[in-house]
Amino acid sequence: MGWIERWTQEDRGRFRAGIVRARHRLADSGLFCDPALEELVETHPRELLDIAMMDEEGSARSWTDLSPGERKGAELLAGAREGRVWMNLRQVFNIRPEYRALLGAVFAELRELHPRFRPEVIKGGLLISSPGARVPFHIDRTDTMLWHLRGRKRVFVYPRSAPVLHEADIEAVLMHPFSDDLPYKPAFDARAQVFDLEPGDVLCWPVHTPHRVVNLDGLNVSMTTEYACRDVRVRNQAMIFNGLIRRRLGLSPSIEGSRGLGLAARAGLGFAARKMKLVPKVSKPALAVDAAPGAQGAAAH
Ligand SMILES: [Fe+2]
Repeated sequence: MGWIERWTQEDRGRFRAGIVRARHRLADSGLFCDPALEELVETHPRELLDIAMMDEEGSARSWTDLSPGERKGAELLAGAREGRVWMNLRQVFNIRPEYRALLGAVFAELRELHPRFRPEVIKGGLLISSPGARVPFHIDRTDTMLWHLRGRKRVFVYPRSAPVLHEADIEAVLMHPFSDDLPYKPAFDARAQVFDLEPGDVLCWPVHTPHRVVNLDGLNVSMTTEYACRDVRVRNQAMIFNGLIRRRLGLSPSIEGSRGLGLAARAGLGFAARKMKLVPKVSKPALAVDAAPGAQGAAAH
């Protein structure tokens, strides 16, 4: 075992079907110390650098995009230490050779642990955020994993079922060109599993599982990885078709009731609907470790 330090037999059984909290030692690479982060932030392509501020509640409405301007890396990092800032260096693990090598090695280990695991596109971003920063309640469009590196953060992971989440909510996200946010009620928290992540923890959950994040203390640094697998592409396309017939024909389809040919047919119709521009195309620049056609962009929280 190399970068993944602990991945138990139970974790193997749960991976992608349930919540996995395991351990890694990516920080030993030396790629996430202050000087490395300052240089990364300063030189990362501006079109792939998201910086936002938020209010104390961290509500989606309060998120405001910031421009890095001509600020130096040290200044941006100091802002993240002191303010309520969230930075995402999208695809830095696909662009920078030393980080790309690390991402490739980690996923090679995952494939050793799970011989039937076939991620078609793997993207890695680096999140740098303030103590107290929050990411609102949302789902991601594809599988994501959070590899925590520095600071401490609390992650609330909710059931992928009513009353917290309805299939129509997932369809709405998939049919929207970029928004992943969902309607949130504090009462949902009673149904959440709560994980306080320490450096070296990695956390992942089944695709479309709702979650939100509250940073606890320290400058928070995490690698987020997202990847597409064939089963999720089929599921997403079928849910887009379901979303169309729910909205246009007033039907009440269910993805949980769709299997085999029924699922494949719905996916084909969803794909066709997208081609016919009945739903907006999800488009984000795709640089990937394992480039393959057919992947969709996904948010990286
Ligand atoms: Fe997320």
